[in-house]
Amino acid sequence: MNVYTSDYLRSLLLSSLSETDNPKEADFIFINTCDVREKVRHKIYSFLGYVNKVKRKDAKVYVIGCLAQVDKENIEKRFNPYLVGLYDREEELEDIASSIIKHVKREKIKRVSAYLPIIYGCNHFCSYCIVPYARGREESKPLERVIKEAKFLFNSGTKELILIGQNVNDYGKDLGLEDGFIEVIKRVSEVGFFRVGFLTSHPKNFKLNWIDEMKSIPNLLSMFHLPLQSGSNKVLKLMRRGYTREKFRELVEKVREVFPNAMISTDIMVGFPGEEERDFMDTIDLVKEIEFDRAFMFMYSKRPKTLYYNIPDTVSHEEKLNRLNFLIEVQDRITLKRYRSFIGREVEVLVENVKDKKGIGKEKNGRVVVIDDISEEDVGRLIKVKIYDANIRELFGKRT
Ligand code: 5AD
Ligand code: SF4
Repeated sequence: MNVYTSDYLRSLLLSSLSETDNPKEADFIFINTCDVREKVRHKIYSFLGYVNKVKRKDAKVYVIGCLAQVDKENIEKRFNPYLVGLYDREEELEDIASSIIKHVKREKIKRVSAYLPIIYGCNHFCSYCIVPYARGREESKPLERVIKEAKFLFNSGTKELILIGQNVNDYGKDLGLEDGFIEVIKRVSEVGFFRVGFLTSHPKNFKLNWIDEMKSIPNLLSMFHLPLQSGSNKVLKLMRRGYTREKFRELVEKVREVFPNAMISTDIMVGFPGEEERDFMDTIDLVKEIEFDRAFMFMYSKRPKTLYYNIPDTVSHEEKLNRLNFLIEVQDRITLKRYRSFIGREVEVLVENVKDKKGIGKEKNGRVVVIDDISEEDVGRLIKVKIYDANIRELFGKRT
């Protein structure tokens, strides 16, 4: 979401201003923040301190994003920025831009793969999560606006569009649409992109029959990010996730039945209060059984305002770290095995970037592929690639 809002602001300002990433020389400084975990908050505060020290005296600092919303007063007091708050909607970003420049005109930024938010906020209130407090309740972008924006991006040269939101599966519920999620993907898939994907799903709200319907979308990027969080039913309940490990497994099985090569990734947290050794082992067992293609793994940290903010930790920092390292070790082996199973196979890659004659892009299920001997002209093209190597992040291939 933040990548999109920063890009949007950039596209509005670039018509009159030029960009620098050196805070010492900027007239206007935009800092787009996150507050999902404690570590991120610390990083941002030290960055804000640095910017405040080196910036020009007359430079205006804008702090936007989740941390700016949740910890507004503190940021105002400590750093005295020009503007602070969430500012995640296009209209709000347009207002910021027109307060800086006279005639705001949206420049086309060419991105082979681009994001498009279709739903903002979250209604779920998982007991560890700050997002509903930072981003508010769910609000879907009307279908016609989604299509208009998708066409704008298509005409700017975008070849792959990823529809984003905290919970894309809830798309349209507030607009009275029963199956808005499938409807919006189908409509966008007809705009002309090579590929259309979506991110992030909530396992609780993913209807199994939607997966059957997806089969009829020929240009669907079969990339499913399904955050598990924990493999223990006890912990899932404490987290208020609304599904069990059995339900989650059923969802993954359905995805694999319809899309055998789908890339299934997840998020997992360790050390949630109440997570005992046997709960953690439930997570490990499920991870081994499911074999995710990739996982993003974290140590639980308390977030202000959440239901668990005042619940004491029951797992020490050291134990959290041990669990995290063990989980990463298990998952990395699985990722490597699954990625290496592509060696010798031919895949179709949409080339997104070229650097030092190496191309980078994704195959049609979303795995990142690095390709040898690619030129600038190949950017934005679909090319056939034979995979000869893999690590835990990427496949490596040569064009055939
Ligand atoms: N502590 C640790 N990880 C968290 N996440 C969300 N909230 C927390 C928290 N309080 C993780 C979840 C989520 C991902 C974006 O960040 O795994 O899916
Ligand atoms: Fe946070 Fe849960 Fe909403 Fe995801 S579904 S954004 S984890 S509250």
